[in-house]
Amino acid sequence: MLSLMHHPADAIVDVLDLADQLKASPEWPTPLAGKSVALIFEQPSTRTRVSFEVGIARLGGHPVVLAGRDMQLGRGETIEDTAKVLSRFVDAIVIRTVDHGKVMELAEHADVPVINALTHAHHPCQGLADIMTIRERFGDPAGIRAAYVGDGNNCCHSLMVVGAQLGMEVVAGCPAGYLPDPEVVATADAIAREHGGFVRVVEDPREAVADARAIYTDVWVSMGDEGQEGERERIFAPYQVNDALMDAAAPDVIALHPLPAHDGLEITRSVYHGPRSAIWDEAENRLYVQAALLTHLLGEA
Ligand code: CP
Ligand code: NVA
Repeated sequence: MLSLMHHPADAIVDVLDLADQLKASPEWPTPLAGKSVALIFEQPSTRTRVSFEVGIARLGGHPVVLAGRDMQLGRGETIEDTAKVLSRFVDAIVIRTVDHGKVMELAEHADVPVINALTHAHHPCQGLADIMTIRERFGDPAGIRAAYVGDGNNCCHSLMVVGAQLGMEVVAGCPAGYLPDPEVVATADAIAREHGGFVRVVEDPREAVADARAIYTDVWVSMGDEGQEGERERIFAPYQVNDALMDAAAPDVIALHPLPAHDGLEITRSVYHGPRSAIWDEAENRLYVQAALLTHLLGEA
């Protein structure tokens, strides 16, 4: 599960339906009993690590958390060999690393499912939680407009892809030089059009948020972009999600952000701690979508 670009929409809806059921149930079934899941982190994480670790335990499974630097991978063992060996021990591999090609290579050589827990290109687990949150607030996302404002990064790509699978209208407002990958945009737009939606990219943030019922932003400096802070803060300043930008969207607009947030940069505290914020539910929903995904991949039929 590397990007959700190549999965059928029905399977994604099944995962989201199961996530809703898990959220509503105090007692969870244990389809992961006797199963282990490796969680490899080559980059820092709060939400992804805790939500996967807690979710796997609640499903009866055993999480094996590995910091990349503590593995032989960090001393030059190849991805191929790591994939082959881990496949002998665990039932699935979850990995966070900057290089998307590394995750593709791991998936190519592993005999067990591989889940992308964030690369520089995609953050599909986040995309699932984003859409779960939109469904909770508005029902069926088909035809609903979401605006992404800021850096055309991994979270932008995943919102486009998952939104497209559910027939949403996704409009990204990003500055020149920081636009989303045109190939991802074209693929997402083609998927969206099959489901009655579309994906569009503009440069004006106010144009992007017109009629939007969700405004989504993310950090201006992603993991892997360190060192570009000054330049990025100058370029992205007009893209801040503040109350004035929220007021330019639909009257019932909600704010989304994957977190961690930076008050006064990509978002203001008045928005992310304010009445229009769905950001804390969005963070909580990581737990349910990932548990649903693991159940879908590993649970008995
Ligand atoms: N949103 C997200 O992936 O958060 P972490 O980096 O804390 O896992
Ligand atoms: N775009 C951010 C998301 C963090 C959850 C990053 O890649 O660092």
